[in-house]
Amino acid sequence: MIGSHRLRRLAPFGVAAVLALALAACAKSYPDSTFTPHSDLGRAIDFLWNRLMFFGTIVFVLVEGALVYCVFRYRRRSEDVMPPQTHGNVVLEITWTLIPAAILAFIAVPTVRTIFQTQAPAPANSLVIEVYGHQWWWEFRYPQYKFTTANEIYIPKGRSVDLVLRTDDVIHSFWVPQLAGKRDAVANHTNHIWFTPDSNMATTVWNGFCTEYCGDSHGEMHFRVVTVDPAQFASWVEHQQAPGFYSPAPAPATPATPAAPAELSEAAGKAAVTTTPSTATPAPIAPATPTATPAQLASFVLPRADVPDYAIPHTPLPDEIKFNDALKGDPAAGEKLFVGAGTCNACHTVAGNPLAVGMIGPNLTHVGSRIAIAAGMYVNDKQHLSRWIKNARIMKSGVLMPTLGKGQYDPQTKATTPSGLSDQQIADLVAYLQALK
Ligand code: CUA
Repeated sequence: MIGSHRLRRLAPFGVAAVLALALAACAKSYPDSTFTPHSDLGRAIDFLWNRLMFFGTIVFVLVEGALVYCVFRYRRRSEDVMPPQTHGNVVLEITWTLIPAAILAFIAVPTVRTIFQTQAPAPANSLVIEVYGHQWWWEFRYPQYKFTTANEIYIPKGRSVDLVLRTDDVIHSFWVPQLAGKRDAVANHTNHIWFTPDSNMATTVWNGFCTEYCGDSHGEMHFRVVTVDPAQFASWVEHQQAPGFYSPAPAPATPATPAAPAELSEAAGKAAVTTTPSTATPAPIAPATPTATPAQLASFVLPRADVPDYAIPHTPLPDEIKFNDALKGDPAAGEKLFVGAGTCNACHTVAGNPLAVGMIGPNLTHVGSRIAIAAGMYVNDKQHLSRWIKNARIMKSGVLMPTLGKGQYDPQTKATTPSGLSDQQIADLVAYLQALK
């Protein structure tokens, strides 16, 4: 009797807890949720999840219900009376073996089917993107179109994407919750994952994450996936194939009109032959001149106004890095600094500039048109970029990017940089990088 009174008193709390859980689910939309898939693979995984959840819930309710019922129904009511003892029940045992076996069959068949589907080779006309995980950023190469970018990819709706996953160091894991399941990038092994984004989905940005612990800044190893229409994709590809805006070694003009993907890759092949850095004589670092054609500048890049808020990083500026934001930068001076001996160009590539072919850090050819810097940790604007150049190691734990500001404390070497860049020099570099649209 005392037990059932206590139960009745506890019941309202139980109901309140369930209601609170249910209400929490409608608080707001979750842009990084896996429950709203926008690709064939995403839906296949979502179907498996739903089926498992459905059968799992039935089993849970039946088993727990039977347990709770038996505990109360057959409890010992008096200290003196021994309840009847039962040993074995053939019918019951056969039943609770057959029912789970049937449920397992309902789960196993679609699971195995989905496993085979995800292990199958991608369709022949897929867009191939080579993904390289680095501590802590993502390198993306488009081998069919012969360009490289970092931390941000565009993919056309309705065309299968074949992601070829590799790592430069430790194990990382590639995951875009709204598009497809995750897959690891493992050392000495090439992994694949492919999916087809829905052809009727939105032209927008999706957040991507590293989901395998990979060191200090694992939690700050993001990327963005922009889903666009095929024509916008062709235009964006043309934009990415163009050299950096402030390139001192002008490349021959690429086709001025957006071409079909096949033509684009062919044109890229020709362009690559004529602009390969090794065949070009290093140009003198003369006053820089814009080399991109008007058509290239008009190429498609998702306008900043169309980037949803969830895809824009809101990490605050660190207080301890002071910078004079009033300084006006000169992009030409910035470019000279960028390619000076042993500076930015030791680690970063700007395609079209034979003096900037570093491979350690992200490719910066069109960094000015990216949404974020530091692998999605900070928004790509003057305030964040200048502080990043001044003291990246305060802004992102463990980062390879050195502390470059004069007199700045480097938290990794635990020393102050005696020489280094002045605020004006940093402002020049920022102006140059922002000009690399
Ligand atoms: Cu890369 Cu976690």
